[in-house]
Amino acid sequence: MDLGLGGRGYLLTGASRGLGFATARALVDDGARVLISSRSAESVDAAVSSLGSGAFGVPADLADPDTAEGLVAEARERLGTVDGALISVGGPAPGTVLSTPEEAWRDGVESVLLGPLRLVRALVPHLAEGAAIGLVLSISVKQPIGHLAISNGLRPGLAMTAKALADELGPRGIRVFGLLPGTIATDRIAEIEAASGDPEKARARTEAGIPLRRVGRPEEFGRVAAFALSPAASYLTGVMIPVDGGLSRAL
Ligand SMILES: NC(=O)c1ccc[n+]([C@@H]2O[C@H](COP(=O)([O-])OP(=O)(O)OC[C@H]3O[C@@H](n4cnc5c(N)ncnc54)[C@H](OP(=O)(O)O)[C@@H]3O)[C@@H](O)[C@H]2O)c1
Repeated sequence: MDLGLGGRGYLLTGASRGLGFATARALVDDGARVLISSRSAESVDAAVSSLGSGAFGVPADLADPDTAEGLVAEARERLGTVDGALISVGGPAPGTVLSTPEEAWRDGVESVLLGPLRLVRALVPHLAEGAAIGLVLSISVKQPIGHLAISNGLRPGLAMTAKALADELGPRGIRVFGLLPGTIATDRIAEIEAASGDPEKARARTEAGIPLRRVGRPEEFGRVAAFALSPAASYLTGVMIPVDGGLSRAL
């Protein structure tokens, strides 16, 4: 199947590593051009080199309120037309509901909730019919994850915000969707497993709860995200797409 990505331009945040990078890889492999960003200039440079021609990069912290406008301007300059965006950010601090201090909730609101929203507001005026916005959320949209209170609290709200945005942008032919990773083997997951004190045991426990009995590979997420962003998915909007090996108990 031709995804129709040839020559199209996409802005990706949180994309020097992990799920954002895997999506950039899948987009570039299918002929798209990408502008990737994350906080560390060094990581962005390394990721751009690894993606090869068709990739540009700029350091940007999505939690900084001044980031969005500049990032969109940079994307328009480098890519010409921006046909869509994948918005991913670093995960929020771990902790239970009762142990998570208010300051951590505030930081989570800045990075997980307001960061993506600011970028959407800056980007939308420059999008044309056929564009798509994908938000990297979490399976916590559908069911709580232990010890990730902030994700459980904020991501369902962002998912419904994306649903409302799909209503608002649908008449202009712009699509909006969310991606809900379960456990995909990125640095973030390695950090969470290491923090448990026994990473192997933590991995085995996770895998036992997944119907496919294994965690996902970043490229398995990247391919789904690239398809959903592509013109091949032109009638897909207002949906949350789990990429979780069957983990979610909700349909
Ligand atoms: N992997 C999973 O299984 C899984 C499951 C559920 C939800 N998620 C969520 O999906 C998102 C991506 O996860 P991941 O596994 O790809 O994480 P990751 O491997 O840690 O990569 C995170 C990426 O985001 C960048 N980043 C972090 N904070 C940022 C910020 N404030 N502004 C811009 N870029 C930022 C990082 O680069 P810099 O350090 O250079 O900024 C890096 O490129 C997270 O929100 C995570 O909670 C992941």
